[in-house]
Amino acid sequence: MVLTGAGVSAESGVPTFRDAQTGLWSRFRPEQLATVGAFVADPDTVWAWYEWRRDLVEQVAPNAGHLALAELESLVPAMTLVTQNVDGLHRLAGSRKIIEFHGNLFDNHCLECACPAPGVPRPCPKPPRCHACGGLVRPGVVWFGEAIPALSLERAVQAADSCDLFMSIGTSMLVHPAAGLAARARSTGAALVEINPEPTELTRFADFAIQAPSGHVLPVLRQALAICRRRTGSNH
Ligand code: OAD
Repeated sequence: MVLTGAGVSAESGVPTFRDAQTGLWSRFRPEQLATVGAFVADPDTVWAWYEWRRDLVEQVAPNAGHLALAELESLVPAMTLVTQNVDGLHRLAGSRKIIEFHGNLFDNHCLECACPAPGVPRPCPKPPRCHACGGLVRPGVVWFGEAIPALSLERAVQAADSCDLFMSIGTSMLVHPAAGLAARARSTGAALVEINPEPTELTRFADFAIQAPSGHVLPVLRQALAICRRRTGSNH
């Protein structure tokens, strides 16, 4: 099982959330923007912030780390990728068996009736209205105080409980329930590997902590695994 966070997209040019210099949260208070209350109070501002993030993501491409993870998926069919990222870069890189734990910047649904709202034009300066009920359309991401969609949570928990290797990549491991997946995996005996240039909450529990950027480490790991595979013919 692989859990990724904002750090995996940093080398594509997407700012992380908590980086002191460039993080999105260093310029905006999350409680002002990423809550239902904030959207209800000021839908135009919150929507504009998501449009800004969509603009940013549309100008970048998956990096070597995203691509290596997509290739790992074909080498290790049992692998589950859970991402906290809403930027869609894993999918663009070719990952298919992926759980977008916090949703996706480019999905939208109605605030009132939860009806999906496909086909919102880009750019779209103001939140559109739902075709079904006329309610405001909101970004399809999980906001602070909201629950993870049940199916995503169930699949991620199942993967954590049954994996033999848990890799945490580019996440500060501060936001739950995603961060708690590592403890679940560890309690059933999985080995923990962390790839992150900085120490995190997980580092002291990790069996291996590789303190380097994921765009450097993951291609090497993928290559090493491919070589082992060729030598042993094994799927493990
Ligand atoms: P953070 O911004 O909290 O953490 C990013 C992590 O990436 C940090 O630990 C960095 O050290 C690390 N990092 C930076 N560059 C890296 C690189 N090149 N390679 C590998 N690691 C690197 O982001 P997340 O942990 O993803 O939730 O944050 C979790 C959640 O908090 C987000 O999904 C978002 C936010 O609130 C919601 O919006 C619900």
